Amino acid sequence: MELKGFSTKCIHGGEEGKYEFDVIPPIHLSSTYQLKYEDQDFVYSRVDNPTRRVLEDKMSVLEKGVASLAFSSGIAAISTVVLSFVKPGEEVILSEDIYGGTKTLFMEILSKRGIKYKYVDTRYADRLEDEISDDTRLVMIESPSNPMMRITDIEKVSKIAHEHGLKVAVDNTFASPYLQNPIELGADITIHSATKYLGGHSDIIAGTATFKTMEDYELVKLHRTRLGGVLSPFDSYLLLRSIKTLEVRMERHCKNAMEIAEYLSNHPKVEDVLYPFLKSFPQYDLARSQMRLGGGMISFKLYTDDQDKVDVFLNSLSIMKKAVSLGGVETLIEQPATMTHRALPDEEKKRLGITPGLIRLSVGIENVEDLISDLENALRNI
Ligand SMILES: Cc1ncc(COP(=O)(O)O)c(C=O)c1O
Repeated sequence: MELKGFSTKCIHGGEEGKYEFDVIPPIHLSSTYQLKYEDQDFVYSRVDNPTRRVLEDKMSVLEKGVASLAFSSGIAAISTVVLSFVKPGEEVILSEDIYGGTKTLFMEILSKRGIKYKYVDTRYADRLEDEISDDTRLVMIESPSNPMMRITDIEKVSKIAHEHGLKVAVDNTFASPYLQNPIELGADITIHSATKYLGGHSDIIAGTATFKTMEDYELVKLHRTRLGGVLSPFDSYLLLRSIKTLEVRMERHCKNAMEIAEYLSNHPKVEDVLYPFLKSFPQYDLARSQMRLGGGMISFKLYTDDQDKVDVFLNSLSIMKKAVSLGGVETLIEQPATMTHRALPDEEKKRLGITPGLIRLSVGIENVEDLISDLENALRNI
C-alpha cells in the first residue's frame, strides 16, 4: 500500500519488506559480509551497510529523491558532494550567508586545493546570471539561511543554474524534509546536517545527501567510499529512531517558534525579529509559498549591541541553554557574532548584519509559556 502521509513515511518509509520479524530496524554491526552470491548488496560496511541502507531509503522517501547517502557528519556530506562535482580550477557559487562551517571549509581547505568559490546573495536569484562563469560547476544554497533567515527561491535558482548546465545542492537543514523538499522544487541534491532536526535530540553527529538522479548518486557514492566519511550502524539506527517522530516534533517546534516570534516582535527590548512566517518578515510571501510552516529557528536583534548586556541576557536564562547547534527537543540560544560565526572576518559579519545584539534561537518543544517566561525574565535584566 502506498505510504501517503508524512508521518507514515517517517515511521514506515524505506523499511517495507526489509525484515521478517523485527518491528524496528535491526543494527547490523558486521564490518564485512560472507560472500555468497555474485553482485550481492553487502560486501564491506564502508561501501554499504544494511542498517545504513534503511536510513538512506527512508531519506529518499522523505526528500523525494531516487537514492540517498548517509555520512559521518553534515560537513562530510557537504565536502564529499563538492569534491564529487568540482575539480581544482573550477568554481562553486555559495549563498552569501551559508552555514559558517561551509564557509570555513571553502576558506581554509578547498580554496587551498584550487577550488574557487564566490558568494552571491541568492535572495535575488537573477544575480546568479551575472556571476556564473565558464568555471562554475555547482551552486550551493541554504534556505532559510543561518543566521539571517534569508529565503532563496529554490525553483528559480535551479532553473537559472540548469540553463547553464550547473548542479544545484540545497542545504535543507533548517527546514527539514517536513517543511520543504528542494528536489521537488528543481534542485539536484538535498543535503542535511542530520545532527539537527532529523536527529532531534542533540546526541548524533550525522549528515545525508539525497539525489534526483542515479548518476549523481553513484558518483557521490564512489567519492564517499574513497573518502570514507560513512555513518556508523549504531548512529544510523539512532537516526532512524529519531526520524520516526520528525513530524510531531516539527509541528511543535514550529508552533512554539511562531508564538515566541510574535512575543518577541512586541517586546520593547527587541529591535527586529527574523522569522519566515511573521507577516513583517521581508520575504514572507516567498517563505509561505515554499515552506509548509515557518520552522523552529528565530533570529532577533536586541535593542543593544553592548556585549555586557548581551552576556547578562544570555546568562539570565535558565531553561534555554547557551550552546551552538540546533534542532533538538531542548531550546538552545546563541550569539552568532561570538559563537557560530566567530571565524568570519569582521567586515563580512557587518555586511551580513551579524552584530553583537543578534541572537539565534533554536526553539525546542518544551511548554511555550515556560519558554516565554524564561525570555521575559532575561529581557527584564537588560
Ligand atoms: C545549516 C547547516 N549545515 C551544515 C552543518 C554541518 O553539519 P555537522 O555539524 O553535522 O557536520 C550545520 C551545523 O551546524 C548547519 O547548521
